[in-house]
Amino acid sequence: MPIYTKNLGWVLETANLGYAIGLDAHGLLANRYWGARLPYPEDYPPPADPRAWPFHNTAHLTNEEFPAYAGPKYIDPCLKVTFFDGVRDTLLNYFSAEIKDLKGVQELILTLNDAYYPLQVKLHYRCHVEHDLIERWAEVENLGDHPITIERAFSAQWHFPRGSQYRLSHLAGRWLDETHLHREILHPGKLVLESRRLTTSHNANPWFALDRGSATEEQGDVWFGVLAWSGNWKLVAETTDFSSTRLSLGVNDWDFAWRLEGGQTYSTPSSIAGYTPQGFGAASRILHNFVRDRLLPHGHTLHKVLYNSWEATTFKVDEPSQVQLAEIAVKMGIELFVLDDGWFQKRDLDNAGLGDWWPDEVKFPNGLGGLIKAVNGLGMQFGLWVEPEMVNPDSDLYRAHSDWVIHFPTRPRSEIRQQLILNFARPDVQEYIIGMLDKLLTDNNIAFIKWDMNRNVSEPGWPDAPGEARELWVRYVYGVYRVWQTLSDRHPQVIWQSCSGGGGRADLGILRVADQVWTSDNTEATARLSIQDGFSQVFPANVMEAWVTDAGRGLVPLEVRFHVSMCGSLGVGGNLLHWDKSERDLAASLIAQYKAIRPLVQLGDQYRLISPQEHAYSAVQYVDKAKTESALFVFRTFIPDPAQLPQIYLRGLDLRSRYEVEGYGVRSGAAWMSAGLFVPLKNLESKLVRIRKTE
Ligand code: DGJ
Repeated sequence: MPIYTKNLGWVLETANLGYAIGLDAHGLLANRYWGARLPYPEDYPPPADPRAWPFHNTAHLTNEEFPAYAGPKYIDPCLKVTFFDGVRDTLLNYFSAEIKDLKGVQELILTLNDAYYPLQVKLHYRCHVEHDLIERWAEVENLGDHPITIERAFSAQWHFPRGSQYRLSHLAGRWLDETHLHREILHPGKLVLESRRLTTSHNANPWFALDRGSATEEQGDVWFGVLAWSGNWKLVAETTDFSSTRLSLGVNDWDFAWRLEGGQTYSTPSSIAGYTPQGFGAASRILHNFVRDRLLPHGHTLHKVLYNSWEATTFKVDEPSQVQLAEIAVKMGIELFVLDDGWFQKRDLDNAGLGDWWPDEVKFPNGLGGLIKAVNGLGMQFGLWVEPEMVNPDSDLYRAHSDWVIHFPTRPRSEIRQQLILNFARPDVQEYIIGMLDKLLTDNNIAFIKWDMNRNVSEPGWPDAPGEARELWVRYVYGVYRVWQTLSDRHPQVIWQSCSGGGGRADLGILRVADQVWTSDNTEATARLSIQDGFSQVFPANVMEAWVTDAGRGLVPLEVRFHVSMCGSLGVGGNLLHWDKSERDLAASLIAQYKAIRPLVQLGDQYRLISPQEHAYSAVQYVDKAKTESALFVFRTFIPDPAQLPQIYLRGLDLRSRYEVEGYGVRSGAAWMSAGLFVPLKNLESKLVRIRKTE
């Protein structure tokens, strides 16, 4: 049974994980344990007794599951509110517990009530048993008549076993250079990661992995988790002055306030976390499986090899030029042709058109229908780029509704890329965009949408907000989810890609509506190796859209550029008119090879064997779930000769089964994993090695 109660304590168990909560001697709801699943209920320790430390307030010492700001507490809380009378102290007491069974998924709901005010907090814990993950969120309900202002409502505080020094792994970067992996030791104090940009951001990601400083890809205790949210977020890793380490995660409280009227409930997004003794690689694979099995709208659907014309033609698109590209693309084995920016009303540069989502009459005199017919006639599906949250001041939409953008009336409206942000918190804006895009999808045979979002927020005002204007940060994100979900419900055949100037909106919140993420605007293959390695910490390969473009052409061989992109969901984005016959032939042969390994790359288990973030010679392996087939990619960027290249030890194979490793013969899985193989490469070379089980 995944959840059970014992002596006012609750134990949550998944296949391999145990998580125990209980009331401590002071009645505080405390974490008792988070780690490997234990054999017996009585194995889970009781809450630590904070009285062992006199003269200090107990909150520093109590692993409270959901601390509110109250009393002499100086640790970072999950909840801070102001009551109608100005009181800003929230004293939560345990009230009740309930266990629900939702179609086989068990959920524990713990209810806490304020000692005086009619404020109720429900903590939800859902056990994803076979995925080895626990999902948490909180609901804050105003049971009275007077409004309550919420100033912070995080999703969870996670506690780590006391007494160790921890190392935090996290992702950091910037536009064109996302998802670099950083590992740093946590010292007393707080380490804060966040986004204040309205979206998840290119700069950091709401993902964490904590270990005791010595875990590797394959072994060591790793506690990891995410916030499933696509807006402003905050992560606070706090090592207290009593050597306990905790990590809180939630919607950023920066500039945030939420007015909770009587009878209303505010729900936080989910934080989803797990534990494994098998290192960072296993932690990633747990997340990958969960994303594919539980989140993605199209689950295990294999993604088509696409061509996207952006880097070839930028805004200079029209029907003949796109048909010309499509005719070349199809001969290379491309299955989906995506028309990017530039197709709509007056969109010749980035200074006009956003908001007016109908085809430019000069470029597409037959509407999109002419191009779509040609693309479909060639046997390919058709996809389209849109940027629904944006508007150019030079657009019919802005001329009609200049009040629809996020702004402060007395301040300039800062433009970035000559565009402003439509306030998706507003229901009228949501309805307008739903209507526009619904028509586009109804009138045209569109199989794929790339939903872009190309700027960060500024002047975050909502002048005619019906209530508290600082709710914008949250209502905007729910607005985006609502528009997206409505369109997706109406057009279930469409595959959606989340793009935000590359990887600016990659998170487990958006992956409930989008099947893919455009990983980065940086398509140069050697730079991509590191970006993709970081991306894979959280996201599976089918989510990772990767194009072969002309970036690095002339320096990095086409085969290497393909191999890098074949590690994800393969696309092509170069100017095919400039590719000579030998390049097109090579591309066709590599696309055919990709199709042969596509199921195991997109849906198999990924093993990061040698990290490109650490070595100029790197390797990554994909193994299908049945362990019958595998693909190994090896890359060498630049190492001065004479180079000493490492042996590659395969992973994920059956120990006793025999496998043929292309070009290396047949040996047992144990042999390939223990004795390994040597793959010699020169600078800027790569190799795809296929592996098949023979018996
Ligand atoms: C940013 C995206 O990341 C690019 O791939 C491209 O779609 C441009 N926007 C188009 O404006």
